[in-house]
Amino acid sequence: MNEAVKVEHLTKIYNHSIKAVDDISFYLKEGEAFGFLGPNGAGKTTTIKMLTTLISKTSGQAYVYGNEISSNSIAIRKLIGYTAQDIEVDEDLTGRENMILSSRLYHLSAAKARQRGNELFEILGLTEAADRSAGTYSGGMRKRLDIATALVHDPKIIFLDEPTTGLDPQSRFALWDYIKGLNQKGTTIFLTTQYMEEADNLCERLAIIDNGKIVAEGTPEHLKEEIGGDTITLEIKDSSNSGVTSRDNAVKTLTGLPNIKDIKVLDNNRLSLNAANGSYIIPEIVSLLQEQNIVLGRLEFANSSLDDVFLKYTGHELRVEEQKKKSNVMHHGRKRRS
Ligand SMILES: Nc1ncnc2c1ncn2[C@@H]1O[C@H](COP(=O)(O)OP(=O)(O)O)[C@@H](O)[C@H]1O
Ligand SMILES: [Mg+2]
Repeated sequence: MNEAVKVEHLTKIYNHSIKAVDDISFYLKEGEAFGFLGPNGAGKTTTIKMLTTLISKTSGQAYVYGNEISSNSIAIRKLIGYTAQDIEVDEDLTGRENMILSSRLYHLSAAKARQRGNELFEILGLTEAADRSAGTYSGGMRKRLDIATALVHDPKIIFLDEPTTGLDPQSRFALWDYIKGLNQKGTTIFLTTQYMEEADNLCERLAIIDNGKIVAEGTPEHLKEEIGGDTITLEIKDSSNSGVTSRDNAVKTLTGLPNIKDIKVLDNNRLSLNAANGSYIIPEIVSLLQEQNIVLGRLEFANSSLDDVFLKYTGHELRVEEQKKKSNVMHHGRKRRS
């Protein structure tokens, strides 16, 4: 097996105190599309920055095409492309001029730069817009241009840090197709994302990262299979009696039922059950709760998804982070950098 990236016990501690990446190990095969799925603050950007040699590691080992990250940064930078979470294109220049600028950084000849530029504009759907100033581009187009400039030197692998965060759904879906196209043409891809659907759609394998640790790793299918079962979400109308909330009473009532593998408390009045043959045990659940005078609000049923995988391994929902992030933005009146 040819490993494009090999990481062993990699750790990053900022300012002697913040453990941003905590003893992670993983690998990428050549030609693979691999992803890190995790909420804000999980350690995704820190990992990418260590692998692209932009920041130093604290301990552990990592190799990019056999080159050790702290001793071979020059060799690594020639082999890789990188796009940061924030789009970095010059809006006063046209798409083509941005491309030329980037080719100069990589010391490509003018002829080579032109040829490679045309190729990439074609793959990324920018041919029509190539001679317009990037300031007139939509967010999705700017991101594609950003990716194109990172690919001009024909790197073996590209690191994409949250490529679709902040894009509208339509641009996101379009970008997915372009990323898949790049991968099919042979570029190895390492991407980070906060979106389940993105990880599910783009990654052959993925690692779930939370609080600096990899908590699960595998193909999306394998991860979903492993947790098995279906998810039943119950909303319970609270009528607290004798100090025990209806929610806690419901947990007690349902714990130990043969088909229920796991019960998680989502919030004050919601429970998530992982169940085998979920659709068959719903009637039983409803009648058991009724016997206890527990009133149900709504009940949702879903076959297993990556959301459930995330919940199982981290004990919290990925979406909650997104909600928090939104309310942070509102409360402080400005967006935090992530
Ligand atoms: N330059 C830095 N100095 C100190 N702490 C940092 C720095 N960059 C990131 N962190 C912290 O490290 C943790 C991981 O951050 P990051 O790698 O940016 O996560 P993600 O990209 O998954 O959102 C967070 O707690 C973040 O606040
Ligand atoms: Mg980040």
